[in-house]
Parts: sequence; C-alpha cells; structure tokens
Amino acid sequence: MTLPAHHPMVDGRTSNSDLITALRGGTPRRTPVWFMRQAGRSLPEYRELREGTTMLDSCLNPAMASEITLQPVRRHKVDAAIFFSDIVIPLRLAGIGVDIVPGVGPVLSEPVRTAEQVAALPELTDESLEPIREAVALTVAELGSTPLIGFAGAPYTVAAYMVEGKPSRDHLGPRTMMHAEPEVWKALMDWAADASGKFLRAQVEAGASAAQLFDSWAGSLPLADYQQHVAPASVRTLDHVRDLGVPLVHFGTGTGELLTAMRDVGVDAVGIDYRIPLDVAAQRLGDTVSLQGNIDPALLFAPWPVLEAHVREVARRGEAARGHVMNLGHGVPPNTDPEVLSKVVELIHSL
Ligand code: CP3
Repeated sequence: MTLPAHHPMVDGRTSNSDLITALRGGTPRRTPVWFMRQAGRSLPEYRELREGTTMLDSCLNPAMASEITLQPVRRHKVDAAIFFSDIVIPLRLAGIGVDIVPGVGPVLSEPVRTAEQVAALPELTDESLEPIREAVALTVAELGSTPLIGFAGAPYTVAAYMVEGKPSRDHLGPRTMMHAEPEVWKALMDWAADASGKFLRAQVEAGASAAQLFDSWAGSLPLADYQQHVAPASVRTLDHVRDLGVPLVHFGTGTGELLTAMRDVGVDAVGIDYRIPLDVAAQRLGDTVSLQGNIDPALLFAPWPVLEAHVREVARRGEAARGHVMNLGHGVPPNTDPEVLSKVVELIHSL
C-alpha cells in the first residue's frame, strides 16, 4: 500500500522540509532541530492541560494528544513535531494492564515471564488504534509544512518493561530470558515487534512524515546479544512501515558499541546520545546514514555562553555526517527552562 494522496509527504507539504531533506542526506536550507521529549513536563501549558488526567488517558484522548504535540512547535519554532504518546500505548490498546506511574515510569500489573504468559498475549487489533489515527490526523491538519515524526518503542526496550514489570537499571530479567529460554524470548520479541509495528504504521498512514524507533535501553546489551536476540525483531518492527517510504530514525542510549548494528536494521538516520561526538559517530557509521543529536541535556542548565559554545561545537562536528538533524543526546529533563530551549532553536537557525 502507498500513502493516500492527501498525506503531507504526498501532497508536498513536508516532502521538501529541512527535516526530511537532512534525514535523506540532502542539503537543507538550514540545520533542522527538534528535541526528544519536547512535549511534556518542561512546559507550563502541558502541566495545565494534563491536570487531572493520567498520562496514558491523555495519550488516548485525540484532542488532548494533538494539542500537547503542537505546544512545543508553537513555543519553540522547532522543525518537527513528535507525536505525544508513549512506547507502552500498544500494550494498553491490546488490553494489557499497564500504567505510567508519575516519577517512576511504565508499570505492568502482571510482569510477563513464562512461556504460558507469552503465548497468551492478546493481539493488538487495527480498530483499537483508531484514537491514534484520529490524534495524528488532527495534528497534521494544524502543522502545515512542519513534519510530524511518529514513533514506537523497539521490541527490546518494550520487552524489558514487560519482563521486569517496571523500570530497571540493569535489565537482568530480559537479559537472562534471551539466553535461558531463547524460544520464549523470541516469541515475546515477535509479539512486541508486531505491536510496535502496527502502532507505527497507524501513525504514518494517518499523516506522520518520518518514524523513529526508540531502543532506549539497547545500550545494556553486548553486541553479540544485540545482533542475535534483538536486531531481528527491530527489523521486523520496521518491516511494518518500509513500504510507506518515509525516512526512518533509530535511537538508543549508551550505544557506542552497537552503532553499526543499529544502522544495519535498515534506517536513514541514527540518533546519537551525548556520549559520542558526532564526527566520531560519523566515522563509525559511514555516509549511508544521517545523524541526529546530540546536545548534552546537562548543558541546558549551564550558563548561556557555555551552552552556546557546546551547541556550536555539536553543529561543527555534525558537518562530518551525510546529513545532520540537531537534537539532544536524550530527552528534555522535566525541570528545563523552556526559554533556554527556544534560545537554542534560535541559535541553531542562525548558524
Ligand atoms: O515529546 C516527546 O518526545 C513525545 C512523547 C514521548 C513520551 N514518551 C511522552 C512521555 C515519547 C517519544 C516517549 C517515548 C518513551 N517512553 C521512551 C523512549 C524515549 C526515552 O526517553 O528513552 C521510554 C523509555 C518511555 C517509557 C516512559 N514513559 C518513561 C521512562 C517515562 C518517564 C517516567 C517519569 O515520570 O519520569 C514515561 C512517561 C512519559 N512519557 C512522560 C511523557 C511526557 C512523563 C509523564 C508525565 O508527564 O507525568
């Protein structure tokens, strides 16, 4: 299937935007910038709108999810919107008991640890994704020529929450399971790959112009485990959207040793965290992919001249890449001063 004629990538609204051009390795008019977690707690207008509504309920209210997605675009003049949702939304839509506990993160009412539990996982239906399609459609109707980025959690990061039942530092549960019970692990990863893949496809079909796969916790894995037990499922997730032809981005943290393997799942751009300079990443990855990143979020709290020098340095190192989309090296911290983010956008656009 191809995208419908009124899709922003088909009717020309976003196909030549700076974001899409940079992701594909062309020459944008100016370096595009957006921030992971740009929608959220750093914005007073977000906190006001969210009041009295749980995180996941706000994601499933199309008008609210759309408004929250648009807030940072209006305020910061970033070059892309990122869809306001969460990597565990496909689990909730499939009927799995999951909540986001404020200050903690995703928590499941029953962790998924046995072969029986994996075999009994409910399928994510196409109808259940309707609130997602509706929120995306409302959003792109307002965005004009600014592209919307759709996203999903990569199977490993999603499965890490499913097996642990909550956030974890060392991910012992999933890392044990892939070796102790490789068939159960594979079945769980295939389930997560299809759930995330369907979630991503719903967003792209409804109007997203690019798609980002978040494998935030992949950095906890040795390269061999990543290649054998994780990468095939990430390929499977992206196989759900490849025929739609929008640029694909792959991001994780602590992934210096995994960068080429993450490129090789088949993407147009790799997101680089704050630990690796962009020119070093470009050297490792070659010129078949663009890079996204990697302002250190810690520097958002430094005096402006220090932050400005850092942003200029990131821009300079980014010139080594085939294409560069400016971003942070991980998400916006909740206590960030939003005025600083607006100023960073202005600076990048002036370079
Ligand atoms: O602006 C955006 O980036 C769009 C929205 C977005 C959210 N989550 C909203 C959210 C995106 C892209 C995500 C992805 C996500 N969710 C990831 C991958 C990216 C990353 O940060 O590594 C992960 C690991 C999750 C799981 C998750 N959801 C965590 C760890 C948390 C934080 C828990 C906390 O309170 O500190 C969440 C909750 C969450 N997702 C919030 C937001 C805005 C905060 C909820 C709130 O406002 O109370």
